[in-house]
Amino acid sequence: MCGIVGYVGKRDALDIVVDALRRMEYRGYDSAGVAILDGQGSLAVEKKAGRLENLDKQIAEVGRDSLAGSTGMGHTRWATHGQPTDRNAHPHVSTDHKIAVVHNGIIENYAPLRTELEDAGVEFSSDTDTETAVHLMEREYTVGEHAGDFVAAAYATLRRLEGAFTLVFTHADHPDTIVAARRSTPLVVGVGDGEMFVASDVTAFIEHTRDAVELGQDEVVVITADGYTVTDFDGVVTGGKPFHIDWDLAAAEKGGYDYFMLKEIAEQPAALSDTLLGHLQDGRIVLDEQRLSDQDLRDVDKVFVVACGTAYHAGMIAKYAIEHWTRLPVEVELASEFRYRDPVLDRSTLVVAISQSGETADTLEAVRHAKDQKARVLAICNTNGAQIPRESDAVLYTHAGPEIGVASTKCFLAQIAAAYMVGLALAQAVGTKYQDEVVREFEALEQIPQAVEKVLEQMEPVRDLARQFASSDTVLFLGRHVGYPVALEGALKLKELAYIHAEGFAAGELKHGPIALIEDGLPVIIVMPSPTGRALLHSKMVSNIREIQARGATTIVIAEPDDDAAAAVADHLIPIPATPTLLQPLVSTVPLQVFAATVAQSRGYDVDKPRNLAKSVTVE
Ligand code: F6R
Repeated sequence: MCGIVGYVGKRDALDIVVDALRRMEYRGYDSAGVAILDGQGSLAVEKKAGRLENLDKQIAEVGRDSLAGSTGMGHTRWATHGQPTDRNAHPHVSTDHKIAVVHNGIIENYAPLRTELEDAGVEFSSDTDTETAVHLMEREYTVGEHAGDFVAAAYATLRRLEGAFTLVFTHADHPDTIVAARRSTPLVVGVGDGEMFVASDVTAFIEHTRDAVELGQDEVVVITADGYTVTDFDGVVTGGKPFHIDWDLAAAEKGGYDYFMLKEIAEQPAALSDTLLGHLQDGRIVLDEQRLSDQDLRDVDKVFVVACGTAYHAGMIAKYAIEHWTRLPVEVELASEFRYRDPVLDRSTLVVAISQSGETADTLEAVRHAKDQKARVLAICNTNGAQIPRESDAVLYTHAGPEIGVASTKCFLAQIAAAYMVGLALAQAVGTKYQDEVVREFEALEQIPQAVEKVLEQMEPVRDLARQFASSDTVLFLGRHVGYPVALEGALKLKELAYIHAEGFAAGELKHGPIALIEDGLPVIIVMPSPTGRALLHSKMVSNIREIQARGATTIVIAEPDDDAAAAVADHLIPIPATPTLLQPLVSTVPLQVFAATVAQSRGYDVDKPRNLAKSVTVE
């Protein structure tokens, strides 16, 4: 997601801030900006859409002298609210051009705050949620209870914000001080000698200091050149946790992990929470962009999901939930096949296009074909402003942050969560679910990040297993119901990362052919349905496992901890927390990702860049 840096010291802030932004480029971004305080009551801001070179060019044009000062901040933006344009780039400034703010995250209550501010006469100059923070801050500082007190005004502002955010405030009349806060998004403090930093991650300042302070949830740090104070949002001192950074720069970029993909696997709880954040408002599911009327949604009588690869598997999983909740027929189609087989589409068909990049040529062409046939198109996408969301009638963004590893991991879970929200939005539109039922389903989804966290804590035995089976020539994956696409995804991950022959099957289909593949010692990974959710499925799966065990397969079973029947047929057991059946893919996929990545690493492959693959496939 966005990269943030703030600096107070004695050196040239512009150099330090721009260097820090360059070091955080790996986080992904679509625009960048800086704000520098000259120390005499003026604030200079430059910001530009696109790569950092665009910002460099703009700075060269206006002249570096206009950005002289030893306090400043910078931002690389990964668009969430509002397109990636110059006006939406950060920093955002107050009407009096004294206060600047940069932000990472989502201010969930920005809509009512914006209305409140506009009613009070404030004119907005961007489409971002961030701008509400700077105008609120200006009001607190000028006419609020704490008028004239920069730090107290920042506390008062923060207390009014809901959602997930890292915010950094500067005020031109207080050039010695920066106030930064975090709620659910990253922020670290760098402690230098006569200079202090705040940043999204340590890469921003590792060149200048290796002494850092970790901030907890809902903490604020006030920095000056000589020190820092960590408090809660009411100003009560809480301390902060000092630590020493012993990573090198390359490891720091990857958060200490060997590969981006491993970092992205670990980021899945946050990817899920951020994707869900703000989408339940007053008991109703809301999308990000909706150029469709409620009547258009009510008129939907059939749903197609189009996507490729991992996103296609997310669509296959979503089919179970959308059909169950809406009673509408859902077809899931490989985007590359969709327009070549003349699908039956009309005005009342909703086509849901799922794409991490939003640029996949096959999915884009499927969207265009659907639109030619007058169908309505809803995009689920991780990249704000990409072509697929731009050409769609409605959009729901996955807020997984940039995914740098070529193999999709955190975006897969976020896509499932987003597609489920589409299912709930449709159910509320067509009237197949009461409001309280929609809320209940949403609340169950909100529990999942914690469950994923638990799975992640128990991955060492999975890594051991992966090392044990790393030299296998073939691995099979079995699932039933929502576990079937999970099996397909597990096989895809292993193929693309470890270059091992891997196939996923619906367990019931085995005896119709694939069981002939089973031979002595062949590893088969089984995604066990919950024994409580769909008991019938569970007992059928136990029989399927017995069939392959009788033929010599080595069974690796992913199951709930109290599932004794699964344990009895498992040569190796991977426990996952109990969840409602439809939500199980969000936890059962995680061990499969870890398994594939570890096998690939054991075989000596670069898991971030599997051979022959590209992150964004822009040709058909
Ligand atoms: C596999 C993987 C690919 C993508 C597919 C679609 O790990 O990443 O299968 O899921 O190429 O890409 P997007 O989602 O960008 O349309």
